[in-house]
Amino acid sequence: MKILGIESTCDETAAAVVEKGEHILSNVIDSQAEVHAKFGGVFPEIASRHHVERMLPAIELALGKAGLVSSELDAIAVANKPGLMGSLLMGLTTAQCLSLVWELPLIGVNHTHAHLYASMMNQEKIFPAIGLVISGGHTFLAKLRSDTDYQIVSSTVDDALGEAFDKIAAMMDLPYPGGPHVEKLALKGNPETFSLKSGNVKENPLAFSFSGIKSSVARLIEKHQLSAKDYPDLAASFQKAVFSDLSLKIERLFQITGARSLYIGGGVSQNSALRTFLISKFPEKKIFFPQTNLSIDNAAMIAGMAYPLFQSENTDSKIKAAPKIIKN
Ligand code: KG4
Ligand code: ZN
Repeated sequence: MKILGIESTCDETAAAVVEKGEHILSNVIDSQAEVHAKFGGVFPEIASRHHVERMLPAIELALGKAGLVSSELDAIAVANKPGLMGSLLMGLTTAQCLSLVWELPLIGVNHTHAHLYASMMNQEKIFPAIGLVISGGHTFLAKLRSDTDYQIVSSTVDDALGEAFDKIAAMMDLPYPGGPHVEKLALKGNPETFSLKSGNVKENPLAFSFSGIKSSVARLIEKHQLSAKDYPDLAASFQKAVFSDLSLKIERLFQITGARSLYIGGGVSQNSALRTFLISKFPEKKIFFPQTNLSIDNAAMIAGMAYPLFQSENTDSKIKAAPKIIKN
């Protein structure tokens, strides 16, 4: 069972072929990060135009790298939610056309769920589990009953964690996307220098809020006239605050669910300091992170997750694009 996956929810144009949900035959990621860097964030209209130009070459390359022709595929999977509407429509329209022309079933995959599936690929699967997605567009906790059964229990009420990383990076004159630069800077800093706190949400002790800490960082820079020599300490203090917050809410969900494992997905999960911190915080739990090329937006996680969905007959050639995050 070989599935072609298509991903275009934000600013990565990606195509991949995955066999039986785990065996990655190709994983092509054409990132537009450089194009959006001058805007300090993703410019939606430009993103969709780039998908128009780059989608078919990415698919051709993915098939070529897998050493396959279209007649050897068994299905097409596409990330149809959530994301930027124009970008989503590009991937979905391409997938619908190819599914008609090549006479292949079409499987819609929730992009954020696939971020969690990414950390299950070629790894042990231990359920019930909890899941944490920390990307540029999404931050949420979920209860996981199987590799396709996810129930979101809390999310951010404002910025996503990756977005907060990107915004404080911009305040420290670091390029977009800022997460990896903040991580690098923090290595040289003292996390005890600045007292920062990431937000709590009264209505839901599992929910996240990152807009307050972002404003605190801006105020610190202004009030104390901080400059490049202070930024390593600021980056380290920021990371300490947001990682402690993640760990507190993970701990609460572990207590509620009694789960034994944690699957983490999304771009921020690449952060090595976060990985080390969480492993040391929960030594009795199994914590799974995606392989590097599965952390950022990619189509292998889409093609991978489509396999168990297909087996449960979850296919629909009339799937629609849905820009908002769908609870459940
Ligand atoms: O999952 P992703 O590629 O895209 C979305 O679906 O949003 O995540 C991108 C985000 C960006 O905000 C980027 O700054 C952040 O992930 N990121 C990191 C690191 N690498 C990427 N944040 C912190 N530390 C990193 N090493
Ligand atoms: Zn993503």
